[in-house]
Amino acid sequence: MSLIAAIDDVKSLLGPRGWLAGEDMAPHLTDFFRRTDGTAMLVARPDGVEEISELLRLCARLGLKIVPQGGNTGLCGGAIPRAEEPSIVLSMKRMNRLLSIDPVCYAVTAEAGCIMQTIHEAAAGVNRLFAPDWGARGTATVGGAISTNAGGINVLRYGNTREQVLGLEVVLPDGRVWDGLRSLRKDSSGYDLKHLFIGGEGTLGIITKAVMRLHPRPSHVQTLFGAVPDLDRLMELFVEARNILAESLSAFELIPGSTFEMALAQNATLRRPIETKQDWYVLIRASGNADITARLEELFATAFDQGLLSDAALAQSAAQEDNLWTIRDEIPAGMVLQGKMLKWDASVPIDRIIPFLRDVEATADSIQSGTATYAFGHIGDGNLHLSIFPRPGTDAAGFAAMESAIDRVIWSYRGSICAEHGVGQLNYTRILGQKPAIELEMMAKIRKLFDPQGILNPGKLVDPAPKQD
Ligand code: MLT
Ligand code: ZN
Repeated sequence: MSLIAAIDDVKSLLGPRGWLAGEDMAPHLTDFFRRTDGTAMLVARPDGVEEISELLRLCARLGLKIVPQGGNTGLCGGAIPRAEEPSIVLSMKRMNRLLSIDPVCYAVTAEAGCIMQTIHEAAAGVNRLFAPDWGARGTATVGGAISTNAGGINVLRYGNTREQVLGLEVVLPDGRVWDGLRSLRKDSSGYDLKHLFIGGEGTLGIITKAVMRLHPRPSHVQTLFGAVPDLDRLMELFVEARNILAESLSAFELIPGSTFEMALAQNATLRRPIETKQDWYVLIRASGNADITARLEELFATAFDQGLLSDAALAQSAAQEDNLWTIRDEIPAGMVLQGKMLKWDASVPIDRIIPFLRDVEATADSIQSGTATYAFGHIGDGNLHLSIFPRPGTDAAGFAAMESAIDRVIWSYRGSICAEHGVGQLNYTRILGQKPAIELEMMAKIRKLFDPQGILNPGKLVDPAPKQD
């Protein structure tokens, strides 16, 4: 059968509302930060698990490749079809329903295309908390979050998205549906297969529904914005924060002074929380059911006495809370506006994070003096988002040399270049340097077992047929 006839079959299966072609596909073919562009034969927009099942059955029969996509807020090109692999994008946008929310079981069931913010709001409505949270909350979908095992600002307290998943419904590459939509807290009946799909980037199956964990909603949430006079002593502050705030510590984020100024310059509605200017700032959020202000004040007093903070402000209202976290949310977009950059989503052991950052700065400078290096993010999880801007005029070889040198620094700390954004296509070959051959082999075998035809998300995550040395 010709490709045109095959695509016509897919169109008639989906019906007139179920697909996009031509220019209408444009928003599905480039990522949030425009770091990856692709092409597609069609964008499928199914509206139900049965349709996805039939679509996969048909694609398996016709040998058509499929790239699943949620809110398209991914940062590694995992949901962008590669021009080298003619594919159909499977957009989950129409499958966006929140199906049930259960305050007794502390669980929410949603379709994979359900927007994260919808779940946050529904959880708040029953006095519960849905933990996964990051800047793209208004666009990112639950299926995308699960597929990349996304992180965000609440990981320190609640864990990654993986920790929030109780059950999944998945359509396998041959079209069969696995109903694993359970909300059990305990089940020791062998391999826990949902974990293969979490962080699987749609290479093993299409997640269509999920049961996610909810948490008690803290009645008090308050954030301290502090100026850090000596970055090399930041982890002393982290230890004090954990000692004093204990389980109420829910976020510990690093903001460079330069990106803080950029955020204020970019968004005129933002207010400067403190006048003291410093190269680094921290956002420390506490949440709990007793008044946490006294504990945050104790933290500030201790930190000030020990020279760990030179100034700080405690948010005194929801508007001030919002102001602080909007400053944080603005940083990634602000970085993109600075020009052509190299970007890492690095994690290292938490106690090594500052020596690691110093090492990155020194390495970048030794390769090209005067290189601008920025680091922000989830310092309390040992996860830094690094942006390096080589000098204007640096050629592709210069970018590549910088990239591999910094990758090597990350690995020298036994760290990961994929902390919370996944592998996607941007890290597809780079990840080979991070994992031992035996691990890559196990991953490739799992992929082949689930998808022997190789129709799901080709060129992402792991090569199903790695070349032997
Ligand atoms: C963040 O923490 O803001 C995100 O992971 C986005 C980014 O790294 O650019
Ligand atoms: Zn992040």
